[in-house]
Amino acid sequence: MKITVIIGTEVKGCTYHIKEAFLDVLRPGSEITEFYLPKDLPHFCRGCKTCFLQSEELCPHADYVGPIWDSILEADLLVLTSPVYALRTTAQMKSLLDHLCVHWMVHRPDERMFGKKAVVLTNAIGVFNGGAHKDLITSLRWLGVSHIKKLGIGLMEGVFWPELSPQRRQAIIQKVQSLARKYQTNDSARKGLKVRTLFAITRLMHQGAARKEDPLSADNQYWLDKGWIRL
Ligand SMILES: Cc1cc2nc3c(=O)[nH]c(=O)nc-3n(C[C@H](O)[C@H](O)[C@H](O)COP(=O)(O)O)c2cc1C
Repeated sequence: MKITVIIGTEVKGCTYHIKEAFLDVLRPGSEITEFYLPKDLPHFCRGCKTCFLQSEELCPHADYVGPIWDSILEADLLVLTSPVYALRTTAQMKSLLDHLCVHWMVHRPDERMFGKKAVVLTNAIGVFNGGAHKDLITSLRWLGVSHIKKLGIGLMEGVFWPELSPQRRQAIIQKVQSLARKYQTNDSARKGLKVRTLFAITRLMHQGAARKEDPLSADNQYWLDKGWIRL
């Protein structure tokens, strides 16, 4: 199984240990590729819109974003993991999500996303992981991922992994590894109702817009080339 992991921090702290516990279960027989943020994408989206209007290959940060996107497309399982900052995901993770907007349904989705599975793993000192989950799941959904499972860990005892009690660390590891065991068999996900609905709505949107355009926008040319719309 190919697993692509995006880690929303470079700190080798709680996020790192939780991620390692998850991967330990899946490591045998898996090919794992990891991206640490911001190291592997040290830039914010500049808002130039070149990706939307021309091509993502012309993005000023394509040398960073391209390998991450290619790895996402090749993966069977995606793992997005992040600490909670200000009740949300980290800015560096959000920066990657911003760079991937060009592949949302409203622009140029890739059908390889439709059969993927994704796991969202977050951790916070308190119990409020929901905002960070929402950030990550919203993007995954619009990118076309149907199967998304989330797990939010409330660290409760502190923010430094070695300072958590052995019992707390063990409880966290058990929880994370019980989720990981569900992914030991590598079968692809079915396209779910939410993704089908988003695709159907955006198809109508692209179809309607394309009929009025001359020349076609990069987005609608893509939909036409895919055979998803007709003129
Ligand atoms: C800038 C910053 C903002 C944070 N905001 C929150 C927060 O809103 N809610 C919360 O429960 N914990 C918050 N925390 C605590 C982190 O979630 C916690 O430090 C992190 O989960 C530990 O994982 P790490 O060792 O991988 O960094 C914040 C931490 C930092 C550094």
